[in-house]
Amino acid sequence: MSAPKRYTVTAALPYANGPVHIGHLAGCYLPADIYVRYLRQNEKDVKFICGSDEHGVAIIMKAKAEGVSPQEIVDKYNGIMQQAFEGFGISFDIYSRTSKEIHHKTASDFFLKLYEKGAFTEKETEQYYDPEAEQFLADRYIEGECPNCHFPDAYGDQCENCGTSLSPTDLINPRSRLSGAKPERRKTKHWFLPLDHLSGRIKSFIQSHKDWKPNVYGQCMSWLDDSGGLQARSMTRDLDWGIKVPLPDAEGKVLYVWFDAPIGYISATKELMGDDWETWWKDEDTALIHFIGKDNIVFHCIIFPAMLMEHGEFILPDQVPANEFLNLEGKKISTSRNWAVWLHEYLQDFPDQQDVLRYALCAAAPETKDNDFTWKDFQTRNNSELVAIYGNFVNRVLVLMQKYYNGTVPQPAAFSETDQELLQLLADAPANIGQSLDQYRFREALSAYIQLARSGNKYLADEEPWKLVKTDPERTQTILYVATQVCAALAQLGEPFLPFTSARLRSFLHLDLMSWEACKRKEFIPAGSQLEKGELLFQKIEDDKVQTQLDKLKRNPTQNNPSQKLIPLKEEITFDDFTKLDIRTGTILAAEPVPKTDKLLKLTVDIGVETRTIVSGIAEHFKPEDIIGQQVSVLANLAPKKLRGVESKGMVLMAENAEGKLVFAQPSDTMENGSVVR
Ligand code: 2FM
Ligand code: ZN
Repeated sequence: MSAPKRYTVTAALPYANGPVHIGHLAGCYLPADIYVRYLRQNEKDVKFICGSDEHGVAIIMKAKAEGVSPQEIVDKYNGIMQQAFEGFGISFDIYSRTSKEIHHKTASDFFLKLYEKGAFTEKETEQYYDPEAEQFLADRYIEGECPNCHFPDAYGDQCENCGTSLSPTDLINPRSRLSGAKPERRKTKHWFLPLDHLSGRIKSFIQSHKDWKPNVYGQCMSWLDDSGGLQARSMTRDLDWGIKVPLPDAEGKVLYVWFDAPIGYISATKELMGDDWETWWKDEDTALIHFIGKDNIVFHCIIFPAMLMEHGEFILPDQVPANEFLNLEGKKISTSRNWAVWLHEYLQDFPDQQDVLRYALCAAAPETKDNDFTWKDFQTRNNSELVAIYGNFVNRVLVLMQKYYNGTVPQPAAFSETDQELLQLLADAPANIGQSLDQYRFREALSAYIQLARSGNKYLADEEPWKLVKTDPERTQTILYVATQVCAALAQLGEPFLPFTSARLRSFLHLDLMSWEACKRKEFIPAGSQLEKGELLFQKIEDDKVQTQLDKLKRNPTQNNPSQKLIPLKEEITFDDFTKLDIRTGTILAAEPVPKTDKLLKLTVDIGVETRTIVSGIAEHFKPEDIIGQQVSVLANLAPKKLRGVESKGMVLMAENAEGKLVFAQPSDTMENGSVVR
């Protein structure tokens, strides 16, 4: 698209079934906010849209877990989430809710328009039904034994133990999560959106966006190539929580949450803009940009665009800058295990230090691959970069300015070559930083920004005005004049990344926020201007504060008491049953990822009697190169099974330690390959 006239920027509507954590912030809301603040500073017409996703099974399950109604759940978490976003300065133009009347109407009308165009096919399919709870069961409502790893509590859509995607009919001995009853199969009617006739348009739409981030483009293409033709997707569900299907013969049916949620972006824009909303969704000169996490890619790049195509009146997304996932202290963030840093708790524990977390998360953002947040790294980023470089530099300038000139910016004499280089760095910084931001490279942009502080700090340390003040007052004036300009550039260009700090610093310097374009200059504050004394911008974070956070993680109930997560014992078996298992020691000779999955590794294992291929769901725990030579125990006589096109013969036995980490169940002494385990 040539320069858009306006930007509709959305951030994924989070489910209102729990508070938001650092993974949400780093993955979606922080980059979106940085980008929007940057656009605003570039004087672009932009609307930043978000809100709570209040429908779907995720909400109902949480309500069940807390023993309250879904309405109570969404009311509670909508408030907590909204406050947390505000606390971190996430500057939405609107934060709405999908439970609002305006959204119910917008989503129903959208559905009806598609219905009237004949876009849906009505199909009767067999689905699981809970005879005790008297309702059809969504995939997540069913659990049973995983056919792949035999984890007893796998869900109907996925086994959380081995990561395999499942459909409810794959489960061994399925049971209802509502009542525990054995579900029956019953016929039910749903409205499906066929996609096969759109596949050409969808493919060329994706292919016209080779500018998308490789992780996004790659996932879309592999989804299109993989699925053997796009399958029709059911856009309705048998549930009693959600937006009622607006048709006469649809009692007890609601819109699928992934049908209504993205329409939530449109409803929120309507709520914000009134009659003018259509410009933001229908004008070809509007750039539609969806910030999301990687688990939402298919919905935003394929399914929602397909809905918009069928509708016919809307623009399609121009960019979908999705991030990968953030881990915490080496482990996957998990809401159910409470392995997370919750934003509302951070705000209590580190009052007025929102920018420190913004900084640490942007610096470690999972832009191209999953990344790790550690409290140690957070502390180092604060103490060694924000305090020791940025804060120290600004503080020195402001203190010296008071001491020598009562806070009045002095008149500079002729600039030295070093002065000129530094001033040129300032003039070039907006274009430099902007170039990275234009390409959604937030880490790179932040690093170019902090480089200004680094350069200012080095300049001051090298020039040592505190030594020159007695002997060369003129040079001292020039140095402090130049250093003041660096402080001003930091204040102006920091607005997208560190909005709280940037505003404080501008108040010390008596500056209003300038446009990005206007910042392409060497000098910001003329001689004679009066500056405030200021205060320290950043505070050192001591070890005990970090330790408290680490202790808090360890203290959380399911981490500390892993028995809560222990899998119940299986049914008793006979000795004869046991002797049927042929468990052998072996050695991993080769390991490689199975294409198009995050979870599986293809292992070549020498089990003495022969060398086998075994596919194992351990890719998120081990790098292939680290496990070559690893001794393992192998269930050798398990029937072969094809996993993602690779035939797996046997199973590598693993133990899960108290911290949810996988370790190999291996003999403690080296044994010959093929030795029997019994
Ligand atoms: O994954 C999630 O948290 C979803 N609630 C995101 C929805 S994004 C959009 F479609 F609204
Ligand atoms: Zn499994």
